[in-house]
Amino acid sequence: MKTKNIHTDFGKEISDVDITNLDKEESAKIIELFEEYSLLIIKNQKITNDEQIKFSKIFGKLEITKPGTLGSNSNVVILTNIDEFGNVVSTSHKQSKNDRANQQWHSDSSFKIVPAQASILSGKKIPSQGGNTDFVSMRNVYENLKEDIKLKVDELKAVHHFAHSRSKIDEKMVSKEEYEKFPPVIQPMVKINPKNKKKALYFGSHTAYVKDLSKNESIGLLNYLLDFATKEKFIYSHEWEENDLLIWDNRAILHRGKSYNPEEPRYLVRTTVEDSFTRAEYLN
Ligand SMILES: [Fe+2]
Repeated sequence: MKTKNIHTDFGKEISDVDITNLDKEESAKIIELFEEYSLLIIKNQKITNDEQIKFSKIFGKLEITKPGTLGSNSNVVILTNIDEFGNVVSTSHKQSKNDRANQQWHSDSSFKIVPAQASILSGKKIPSQGGNTDFVSMRNVYENLKEDIKLKVDELKAVHHFAHSRSKIDEKMVSKEEYEKFPPVIQPMVKINPKNKKKALYFGSHTAYVKDLSKNESIGLLNYLLDFATKEKFIYSHEWEENDLLIWDNRAILHRGKSYNPEEPRYLVRTTVEDSFTRAEYLN
């Protein structure tokens, strides 16, 4: 197994490995790199969904895909603009709106009572231009915050709500079932990695507001933090190639999709590992 840097502050590209045939040392090394570098890129992994599921389980228990998402009730999320007949959907289709919702900076499943640890995303069909995924290390961002802001966010909690991020794309996007299944939850604004104790700022598109601040203070703080976190120097932008496999730590990474030609087919498969160390609180 070989590794190389992809950004000065986080992430590693791994080569010379076959994720369908890992020995114990290789699995342990991948987990160690994941905990330390937050984003891993493994090229040339032409895998089936079952192989991806088996690999993903080395990180922990997998999420069951929620209603309203392709792959519902299984361990995979299908992120695509191709419908069940093999045609590319129109931009008014829910799958296309989902794509646009994912173009907001976010941490996967931060709206859930059990949020996500790792997301593992396999690129099956990649448009010829655009469609990058951008990543920011929120550990790095936290470390670069001014001391007074660090002290402030250390003490704060925020309310995350699935309906909040979707309302920015389309007020009617969230079904009654999704609305009822995902009530607002309270998450810390700073996550501490249980193994290495490193702190990361934690918020994103699902964050509706910061708790115990006035509406204006909350908007001001979230806007300031988002502007700060998404400065060019903090971003690694991944240009996809077919059979890339990306693994990121949602406890320490903010990410977003980028737009691409909506007439070109795109097909990605995600597995998501639960963050077994944290549980949010319900708002009410
Ligand atoms: Fe995502």
